[in-house]
Amino acid sequence: MEEAKLNQILEAVNRAPSAGNLQAYKIYVIRDTDLRQLLCRATGNQECLAQAPVVLAFCAEPKRSAVRFGTRGEQLFCIQDATIACNYAQLAATALGLATVWIGAVFEPETIREALKITDDLWPVALLPVGYPAESPKPTSRRSLTELVRLLR
Ligand SMILES: Cc1cc2nc3c(=O)[nH]c(=O)nc-3n(C[C@H](O)[C@H](O)[C@H](O)COP(=O)(O)O)c2cc1C
Repeated sequence: MEEAKLNQILEAVNRAPSAGNLQAYKIYVIRDTDLRQLLCRATGNQECLAQAPVVLAFCAEPKRSAVRFGTRGEQLFCIQDATIACNYAQLAATALGLATVWIGAVFEPETIREALKITDDLWPVALLPVGYPAESPKPTSRRSLTELVRLLR
């Protein structure tokens, strides 16, 4: 995957809104094959992590948000910041003709931390394999808007 496209994705992420504009997260860019295989194993063998040329790891930074927002920053805003950032990456990648899968099954955060060489100050929130799509799956089903939306008058 071209470096220029990766940079465009990261620039788009850097425009994402965040609580108090603190951007309370860090992004790790992983190209290394062994590291991607380790991530694959640490998430219950989510093969796309081993297959995609690049994986982005979005890690919330609770302390950064806590300084301004206390417990709400520590427990919620930093996770929302990282989540929005990851979603910006998905949208930017799709706009560039690439594909992503949100991997939230980070059931072994300690293994992920060891792999990324980070301390428990950072919480791995989502892993995002990015690459050219091998297939064009049909759109997935959705709940109806009448089920999802409540109109209050
Ligand atoms: C919070 C969250 C966690 C997810 N975790 C995983 C995961 O661990 N593995 C996976 O294959 N997909 C995961 N997904 C992707 C969803 O399965 C997928 O977005 C959903 O089925 C809808 O499909 P679509 O995005 O193609 O419309 C996750 C998505 C979200 C938002």
